[in-house]
Amino acid sequence: MQHEKNKFCVLILAAGKGTRMRSKTPKVLHKILEEPLLYYPLSELTSAGFREISVVVGFSGETVEEWIKSEFPEINVLWQKEQLGTGHAAKLTMDWWKDYENVVILPGDTPLIKADTLLKFINAHIEKDNCCSFLSFDLQDPTGYGRVIRDGLSVRIVEHKDATPDERKCREVNSGMYVFKTSALSAVIDRLSCANSQKEYYLPDAVALTEQDGGRTDAVKAQDAAEFLGINDPGQLAEAASVMKKRILDKWMNRGVRCNDPASTWIGPKVELGEDIEIKPNVQLWGRTSIGNGCTVGSFTILTDSVLEDNVEIVGNVMIKKSRVGERSTVGPFVYIRDGAEIHDDVHVGRFVEIKKSTIRRGAKVPHLSYVGDADIGEKTNIGAGTITCNYDGEKKNFTKIGNNCFVGSDTMFVAPVTVGDNVVTAAGSVITQDIPDGALGVARARQKNIEGWSSRRKIGKGGN
Ligand code: UD1
Ligand code: MG
Repeated sequence: MQHEKNKFCVLILAAGKGTRMRSKTPKVLHKILEEPLLYYPLSELTSAGFREISVVVGFSGETVEEWIKSEFPEINVLWQKEQLGTGHAAKLTMDWWKDYENVVILPGDTPLIKADTLLKFINAHIEKDNCCSFLSFDLQDPTGYGRVIRDGLSVRIVEHKDATPDERKCREVNSGMYVFKTSALSAVIDRLSCANSQKEYYLPDAVALTEQDGGRTDAVKAQDAAEFLGINDPGQLAEAASVMKKRILDKWMNRGVRCNDPASTWIGPKVELGEDIEIKPNVQLWGRTSIGNGCTVGSFTILTDSVLEDNVEIVGNVMIKKSRVGERSTVGPFVYIRDGAEIHDDVHVGRFVEIKKSTIRRGAKVPHLSYVGDADIGEKTNIGAGTITCNYDGEKKNFTKIGNNCFVGSDTMFVAPVTVGDNVVTAAGSVITQDIPDGALGVARARQKNIEGWSSRRKIGKGGN
């Protein structure tokens, strides 16, 4: 007796090279808003509750597989070592999908599809008890797409390269998104032929074959063509990016984010924003960046995988990567914060400052022209202008620890490894190579000597009368 089959699985075709991209990078890893194309359908599907998902990889498959494992570890990866067409990809993976009642098949290169549209499409397939349903849409310029040729009640798909001049005039095109009853697809899959202009096994041919077998087939025409844009070349990649960019900006503006210039603002799909946020022109927010309530992000700022807690002010011209900024802190202008830096609450990081892999504790200030790398700066410590932690000895990085309530004189060099206690003062221009105990003044510079009358003697020496 046959065991009861699960209802649905989703197969995503992502093995193709993407010849028209003219790139070594596999097509599905090309990026829109800094995330690979494949991220988009996978995140829509998983957030809509689909659990049984497989992605077919092939060209540069190791790289694609590695990315899938890191971002969507619950998703299954199947291999198509030789890419002989979309129909071939479906056939090779039959052992996986045949155990379900229906298989949804989607191309990996259509990132704009929305979960809602797919759910409605799948429901219609079930309600009508179709053997095969596919989504079609109308295009002003259908070049490159498979044309949907309707003849009375019957329907078939002809690829652009195989279409007659008359068929090419047809503006209804195939989205490449299908649902098949697995019993119907298994019955026709061996009959796909590669006798066509591309010498490929076309999955769209399975539609007509299913119909020939007497199975109910339906082309479901969708309204919003923008959801089905297939990415085959760099122009389409840019076009999809601009659609996705607007979608994301509209979402956040509807939730109250004040974006002064949407045209120059770029927000990635994983970014999280709180309430009462103002974003000035020319800002990019990427990766898993999250911004708390009441923050202002000034112009020419790029934040990547970073966290701003509530009420942070980013003055402008700031780049922050993989770091965190605590509540009420102010940063900028002209600041670079990176590599896991932790800026705590009420900190001021000012003009022309770089902070790398360091902790700056509550209330501390690094106001001007400093490099702080591999360091821990204590609470309420003030770092004078021009201070540098000399963290690199030519072989390895060394650590600088500076205590609470210190006053670091301008132009102090801390030659790491070095530890400075609490309540320490350093004299401006000091090169600190030894630890300084709590409460001490560290002075490490030549004592000043004034030579009286030197200027007038110098004039005489130069040949004056
Ligand atoms: C395909 C459809 C076309 C439809 C269009 C919609 C075919 C033959 N044609 O054309 O009717 O209008 O999508 O965007 O299916 N892939 C594999 N293995 C392969 C070949 C391709 O996994 O052997 C994957 C690709 O990585 C891609 C997807 O299948 O993600 C579609 O392939 P692509 O070459 O882009 O097909 P189109 O020419 O766009
Ligand atoms: Mg395509």
